[in-house]
Amino acid sequence: MQSEEVRNKFIKFFEKRGHKEIPSASLVPEADSTTLFTGSGMQPLIPYLFGKEHPAGRRLVNFQRCFRAEDIEETGDNRHTTFFEMLGNWSLGDYFKEEQLTWFFEFLTDVVGLAANRLYVTVFIGDQKNNIPRDDESADIWQGLFERKGIDHKVVPIGRASIGHQTGMDGGRIFYYDASKNWWSRKGKPEEMPSGELGGPDSEVFFDFGTPHNPKFGKYCHPNCDCGRFLEIGNSVFMEYQKNEAGRFEKLSQRNVDFGGGLERITAASIDNPDVFQTDIFKEIIEKIDQVNPKLDISVKRVFADHLRGASFLIADGVRPSNKDAGYILRRLIRRVIAYEIRHDVHPDLLAEIPRVIVEKFKKVYSNLDLDQIIEVLKIEKSKFKAALSRGLNELAGYKEINVREAFHLYETYGLPFELIIEMAPKGITADIKKEDFDKEFEKHQEASRAGKERKFGGHGMLLDTGELKATDATELQKVTRLHTATHLMQAALRKVLGESISQRGSDITVERTRFDFTFDRKLTDAEVAQVEDLVNEAIAKDLPFQYEEMPLDEAKKSGALYFFKGKYPPKVKVYYSGDSLKSAFSKELCGGPHVTHTGEVGKFKIGKQEAVAEGVRRLRATIDG
Ligand code: ALA
Repeated sequence: MQSEEVRNKFIKFFEKRGHKEIPSASLVPEADSTTLFTGSGMQPLIPYLFGKEHPAGRRLVNFQRCFRAEDIEETGDNRHTTFFEMLGNWSLGDYFKEEQLTWFFEFLTDVVGLAANRLYVTVFIGDQKNNIPRDDESADIWQGLFERKGIDHKVVPIGRASIGHQTGMDGGRIFYYDASKNWWSRKGKPEEMPSGELGGPDSEVFFDFGTPHNPKFGKYCHPNCDCGRFLEIGNSVFMEYQKNEAGRFEKLSQRNVDFGGGLERITAASIDNPDVFQTDIFKEIIEKIDQVNPKLDISVKRVFADHLRGASFLIADGVRPSNKDAGYILRRLIRRVIAYEIRHDVHPDLLAEIPRVIVEKFKKVYSNLDLDQIIEVLKIEKSKFKAALSRGLNELAGYKEINVREAFHLYETYGLPFELIIEMAPKGITADIKKEDFDKEFEKHQEASRAGKERKFGGHGMLLDTGELKATDATELQKVTRLHTATHLMQAALRKVLGESISQRGSDITVERTRFDFTFDRKLTDAEVAQVEDLVNEAIAKDLPFQYEEMPLDEAKKSGALYFFKGKYPPKVKVYYSGDSLKSAFSKELCGGPHVTHTGEVGKFKIGKQEAVAEGVRRLRATIDG
């Protein structure tokens, strides 16, 4: 079947059984602040699952656009996608297990035409600790359903998925698993749910593609094995519990059904092909990628197709790339594609051509997709990323080892996505960094940046004393970092032109310019300004390494490095210098960073306005291009 037929038939099937179709909500949840994205059709329905009356009644059906950021890493195999369409039906305190399981089974076998003997189902084994009983009722219903089709229906109590790998199929059709597999809530297992959250046992249906088991995933295969033989195509959640303040599970005032099934996956099962990227949903997108660039690896093509589809839908729902929350996820999707594009030398038209195919394919159903808008957002993000990337890769190439903080520094300073750092770093030097640790670092940082309105840098505090670097995202941070390095070069040049007696009185760096105050008793002549500019631009043209040495404070002062006399310095400090050695350096200063790694990254330097700020204190402003 084609996806459009599956989508339409699902809606019709449930409409015939008294359901009203409700619209697909935005990917950005309106009434639910617990998640960044709508990742399930039930999210817009939370108040109604608690008992509020829904204007469309107690039986609802829809297809819901969904986005699951947790699947970014998984994308590239034949079945994971970040964006997908969920077919959903709900009973808000109306019918329950009997109708739900029967209807979904009928839909799969009689409407979509799946062979019943290719279906395997799972039910909840119970949770003694939380006093939630085993779901024998669902197991019985399933037995009856398979029986009516004349299909064997042995029940197997597997328990945990890890035990499944030791026991295997055992001739079973219906399998009991624990809460790690057969409990659903927005927040996961019963223990993980915060008080107030609702959830319930569920029953999943798997389609058997009959592909050989891969022992890499465990000795034996079973429905929840990850080898790819079985694909989960639908989940009926019996949403009847709420966790109370004391951490115990209570029944809600009504028994609900919350069903969700992936359109991509049901379509894949309908054509008996385990690769969702070979369904009509992705077919034209993949063909377009092949046409523009036939050399790409299959997993790269899948990432392109998935991420650009996800990005297009996120943009259509108003998300824009940024360093926070939903914007950060969108940025990651786009930058991952661009990074591949650059690395694999992909035809640059791809970024415009694929969205064109995507919009063409989905605009009939999702009228909010606007091709011009999508292309524009992608274009802007690409130019931001490219500028950052070349600087970041430069720095990356110089590392001998990378830990999570350095990885985060690369992300934060240059916007290099984690995946790209791992991919692009010389072999072996990132072995120990885990994605979770990077995410933790990211979380920590987000909290810190929420706490302060602006990020303030200056490892040893001197930048905070002398002024501030002001940046609100990675792109801005690169700019102020370059300006920061330019400020060091400028101070060195000023001393060369005006004499060693000048000394810093303050500095302030924003995205637009650096502002530098120093002791001097008259206006600089045009010739002096030109000389300072030339010296700085020469240092930039030489692309000197910009590096630091750490040393005791005394030693640093003796090295001739500049320091701010009002600064409070720790006993051990960093001296940043431009050149091959501290001795022969063009500039050297006590500083906490951040800085570029080579002066060439600074770009063309120009002095702007000058003024007097106090008796004997001059102020210069300077800019860099790009
Ligand atoms: N809300 C359930 C799920 O997302 C149906 O699997």
